[in-house]
Amino acid sequence: MALREIIILPDKRLRQVCEPVKTVDDQVRALMDDMAETMYDAPGVGLAASQIAVMKRVAVVDASRDEDEGERVKNPIFFANPEITWVSDEMAEYEEGCLSIPEFYELVERPAGCRVSYLDYKGKNREIECEGLMATVIQHEIDHLNGVLFIDHISKLKRDMVVKKFSKAKKRESAA
Ligand code: NI
Repeated sequence: MALREIIILPDKRLRQVCEPVKTVDDQVRALMDDMAETMYDAPGVGLAASQIAVMKRVAVVDASRDEDEGERVKNPIFFANPEITWVSDEMAEYEEGCLSIPEFYELVERPAGCRVSYLDYKGKNREIECEGLMATVIQHEIDHLNGVLFIDHISKLKRDMVVKKFSKAKKRESAA
């Protein structure tokens, strides 16, 4: 397992649509392992492959909040080719953030529940029903695989402000 570098707004790769994986083989599992390590290190509750510049439809989510003696209990769920098959009419609002848009948080409204079909770590076809934080996080990660960021769900004014801020920071960094 290895830590991978998380790419940051306005990196154009965050806007690309990722390719499905053909099968979940050892190479995909190695990617999943690296993604989990990178997510826990960040720390975050979800990570899409495009955030480490791998343009494949792979994501990892751990929305559990369990702790054992102050240590986070790891319950990662790995998704290859995840697809939303149902969303609830009921909506829910969460304050979202993103490891590719550090230190920016904003309320986002999404369906409160959803069902997702995917291939698991062993390549087995599965479907899960999600609610609460898990539903929000998996929708956020599937958005990533389609080149969509959570800031696309907020007002244009706020989005333009945050994109400008990160673009300026990038310019300063490349000038230094
Ligand atoms: Ni994100």
